[in-house]
Amino acid sequence: MPSLSIHAGGLDLANPVLLAAGILGTTGASLCRAARAGAGGVVTKSVGSTPREGHPGPCIVAVQGGLLNAMGLPNPSYRHFQEEIDAGRRSGVPVIASIFGSSPAEFAQIARALQADAFELNLSCPHAEKYGSELGRYPDMVESVTGAVKAAADVPVWVKLTPNTADILELGLAAQRAGASAVVAINTLKAMAIDIETGYPILGNRFGGLSGPAIKPVAVRSVYDLASQLEIPVIGVGGISSWEDAVEMIMAGAKAVQVGTALQEGYGIFEKIALGLQNYLERKSMTLEDLCGLAWRMQH
Ligand code: FUM
Repeated sequence: MPSLSIHAGGLDLANPVLLAAGILGTTGASLCRAARAGAGGVVTKSVGSTPREGHPGPCIVAVQGGLLNAMGLPNPSYRHFQEEIDAGRRSGVPVIASIFGSSPAEFAQIARALQADAFELNLSCPHAEKYGSELGRYPDMVESVTGAVKAAADVPVWVKLTPNTADILELGLAAQRAGASAVVAINTLKAMAIDIETGYPILGNRFGGLSGPAIKPVAVRSVYDLASQLEIPVIGVGGISSWEDAVEMIMAGAKAVQVGTALQEGYGIFEKIALGLQNYLERKSMTLEDLCGLAWRMQH
């Protein structure tokens, strides 16, 4: 069978199907569970410098084509998170700690304190005041935050980018200039839903981030734009729920993919996607390298 192992973004991965940042990465036990189920690497829930309860409920609602969430970055702070990362690392797969802050110095403070196999900088959450895309939509800020974390940590730094921008490539180039080992595209699309009986916005925070199949074409286009121009690898995320989706994302130029919303169907999704990908490569007599970016080479 063709090998699925890769070196991407400074990490050795047994396969390119990773757990995306989100609620299944809040504990060491859930990180291990994803690893045991076949994830090639796991990304934690985002942690910040102080404990946060998050937004008032409802925080998640199912909409056509996916989920709308406004969790509001709830977390216990990095001071209470190292043991979860350590437990996750005992599973044997790389643990990538997702971190957020409101300034380059705050990001660096967290990166200095935490031990993980890599950091993923959340510069893209679309619904938390002073955090996420409020910083990450400015290329200069992406460059400053990435540079500050690079100087504070001696592990690979991945930068998760927002699609809520006119030009995601500018953000990717900024991350690359500052020495990022990879960019991750995309976080959720800013969105809202309204209860037509009452007129109330459904989410407690009024608006949130859309994930799931509805955003996959946006993610594929973003990965294509980034991967065809950047020298650093792109990790694709957004609406991947099958091996066919993973193949498409890799053809757009992703070196690896992350799965989040599709975990609604259970942890078996990691193995299902990895096996489907491997069978596809065998059937087509291709390697992962052949597949990566294939769409750039196709001319109509
Ligand atoms: O609220 C949250 O934890 C979501 C984070 C994100 O969208 O990046």
